[in-house]
Amino acid sequence: MPSLVEIFDRKPKLKYVFTGGKGGVGKTISAAGIAYHYASQGYKTLIASLNPVHSLTSLFRQDLRGGQIKPIEGVENLYAVEVEIDDVVERYKQNIAKRLKEFLKWADIPIDPKPFIDIATTNPAFQESAMFDKMMDIVLEEGKNFDKIVFDTAAVANAVRLIGLSKIYGLWLQRMIKSREEALSLRVKLSFRKEKVMEEIKKDPLMADLLEMNEKFTKVRRILLNEDETAFFFVTLPLSLPIAVVKRFIRMVSAYDIPIGGVIVNQIIPRSVAEATASEYVRNQFVEQLHYMEIIIRDLGDMVVSYIPMYPREVVGVEMIKRVAEDMMGYKPDFLPELLEKLGRAST
Ligand SMILES: Nc1ncnc2c1ncn2[C@@H]1O[C@H](COP(=O)(O)OP(=O)(O)O)[C@@H](O)[C@H]1O
Ligand SMILES: [Mg+2]
Repeated sequence: MPSLVEIFDRKPKLKYVFTGGKGGVGKTISAAGIAYHYASQGYKTLIASLNPVHSLTSLFRQDLRGGQIKPIEGVENLYAVEVEIDDVVERYKQNIAKRLKEFLKWADIPIDPKPFIDIATTNPAFQESAMFDKMMDIVLEEGKNFDKIVFDTAAVANAVRLIGLSKIYGLWLQRMIKSREEALSLRVKLSFRKEKVMEEIKKDPLMADLLEMNEKFTKVRRILLNEDETAFFFVTLPLSLPIAVVKRFIRMVSAYDIPIGGVIVNQIIPRSVAEATASEYVRNQFVEQLHYMEIIIRDLGDMVVSYIPMYPREVVGVEMIKRVAEDMMGYKPDFLPELLEKLGRAST
C-alpha cells in the first residue's frame, strides 16, 4: 500500500485532484487537506468548489463567496473559489440561446427559438453540463496560473460519466462536423464556386461551435485521462454504505480509464480512544469499525493511501485543516498492524 506522500512524490506533475464519495464522508475536508499540503510545500494551489451548496466558506471560516478566486488568509500559496452555479447556468443558457438563434437565422428557418431554448435548458442534466463546462474552463484557464488544482465536487460521478462520455461525444462531434461540411458544400455548390465552400463553412455558427467544443473536449480529455497529471481519490468511512459507493465508483472510473489516486479512509476511531472511553457507544462503534476495516483491507487494501482519525469536533478553520493535511500524510491507525497480520498481509 503506497501512502499519499509516496504517490505525490512519485507523481511530481500531478496537477488536477478530485475527491469523490458518498455525501458527508469527508470529500471537502480531504480536498482541503490535500490543497493545504500542496500549498505548504510551496505550490501555488487552488481549491475549487463546484457544488450547488458550497462549504468552503464555513470550512475555512472565511468569506469565499462571490465566484472569484480569493487567497486564503493564513495559508501562503492557497487560493479558493466557490463557483456560483446560478451565474454559470445563466451564462450557459444565454450562450446556447444565442447559438440557437444565430443558427436558425443563418439556416433561414423562421421559427421562434424560445421553446427549443426552454427544452434544452430546463433539462435536469443541464446544471451538470454547465458545471462540467465550468470545470473544463478551470482546467484549461486556471491550469496556466496554478501548480495544483483540487476540485471539491459532489458530482464526481457526473464528472466521471462526462469524461467517459466525452470520447463518444468526440466521435459524435466529428460525425456532426463531417455531415455539416457535406451539407454546407451542397448548399454552397448551388450558388458559389468551389473555393467559396471553405469560406462559407467558416461562417457557419453551428460549425464553429462544433469545432470549438470538440477542441475543448479533446484537450480536457487528454489532461484528465493522463495519470501523471490527474488523480481521483475516493473517500470512505469504515461503514457499509460508503464502502459500497466507493467500490461502485472504482468500477466506473476504471471502465473509463480515468486515473485513480487511491482510497482515503476517514473518521477512524483509534483503539487507544476506544479503550480509554467510558462510552459504550464508542466502544461498540470501534468493534463495528474493525469489521468494516477488514472489508476495506480485503477488497480495497492496495488502494488505501491515507487514513484520517475521528476528531473530537467538526473540521473548521485553518488550524484544523492543517491537522487534517498532516494526518492525511502520516497518520496510521494503531490497530492496523494486527489487522494486516490477521489478514495475512505485510504491513508497511
Ligand atoms: N475525521 C473527522 N472528524 C470529525 N469531523 C469530521 C471528520 N471528517 C468529516 N467531519 C465533519 O463531517 C462533516 C462532513 O464532512 P465533509 O468534508 O463536508 O463531507 P462531504 O464533502 O463528503 O459531504 C463536516 O461537518 C466535517 O467537519
Ligand atoms: Mg462537500
